[in-house]
Amino acid sequence: MGRVQGKVALVTGGASGIGLSISTLMAKEGAKVVIADFNEAGAKEAAENIKKQGGEAVGIFLDAGKADSIQVAVDFTIEQYGTITVLVNNVGLTNLQKDLDVVNLDLEEWDRLMDVNLKSVLLGSRFAIPHMIKAGGGSIINTASMAGFTGDAVRSAYGASKAAVVNLTRYIAAQYGKDHIRCNGVAPGLILTPAAKNNMPPAVLDIFAKFNALPYHGEADDIGYTVLFLASDESKFITGQTIQVEGGHYMANPSISDFNDYVTKQSK
Ligand SMILES: NC(=O)c1ccc[n+]([C@@H]2O[C@H](COP(=O)([O-])OP(=O)(O)OC[C@H]3O[C@@H](n4cnc5c(N)ncnc54)[C@H](O)[C@@H]3O)[C@@H](O)[C@H]2O)c1
Repeated sequence: MGRVQGKVALVTGGASGIGLSISTLMAKEGAKVVIADFNEAGAKEAAENIKKQGGEAVGIFLDAGKADSIQVAVDFTIEQYGTITVLVNNVGLTNLQKDLDVVNLDLEEWDRLMDVNLKSVLLGSRFAIPHMIKAGGGSIINTASMAGFTGDAVRSAYGASKAAVVNLTRYIAAQYGKDHIRCNGVAPGLILTPAAKNNMPPAVLDIFAKFNALPYHGEADDIGYTVLFLASDESKFITGQTIQVEGGHYMANPSISDFNDYVTKQSK
């Protein structure tokens, strides 16, 4: 018996990275999974790979920036598998060219990131919740980010959108708990997805490694397993929480790494 046996999950942004890990692990543990992604071919390929491994999944197109596309994805899930009991609002975009500091960020990009990162969470939940109520309950999991808990030099829209996802998670949890619907989030720190690995210069990875409490980087499955737990009944008394999965990067006094260097130098 799988950890999410019999559940029906819609995973947005499931064709690659963190969403692919979530979709794969959910299917491995017995859920039927709809993988919805802008990259339709990637979503279909991911579903085929899951089927080859004995799981059940189907891939479809989704533009998480458009309300009607999100509605279609929820409707498709109901037509395909009869219900929806897990919704993973995982899609999230960032843009290092246009999402800058507050004075210089591009306002159109602000709106786009708010639509794709935040409004999609509202809309996916809005369309799925009536079906979850009919099913007797469900679990909604939102992919936030540690950028939603901290300030930074750039990516103001991304950080603001993710902070809002953290609090929208609480609102959904507060409003639908009595309907047996739980809503939680996961806030990744730097996760070395294939895309992140290809785009990050080694010097940037070294900076992250220096400030992690753990001596290694996060991987997509670290988030995948957390989401699997939140989707399963193992977490049935947890709601409204956003679990920070970040290797202890943000947990300690931020100057600890420099203090360690100082103490080491003094003792030589
Ligand atoms: N990787 C990290 O270090 C990290 C850190 C913190 C938070 N996150 C969050 O994790 C989530 C997944 O990130 P990832 O690193 O796996 O990204 P990724 O780029 O590897 O995958 C994102 C997926 O979303 C799809 N997508 C993009 N725009 C879409 C849209 N409008 N509609 C539907 N699908 C769309 C892409 O095609 C892709 O398959 C995001 O919400 C991101 O903000 C990631």
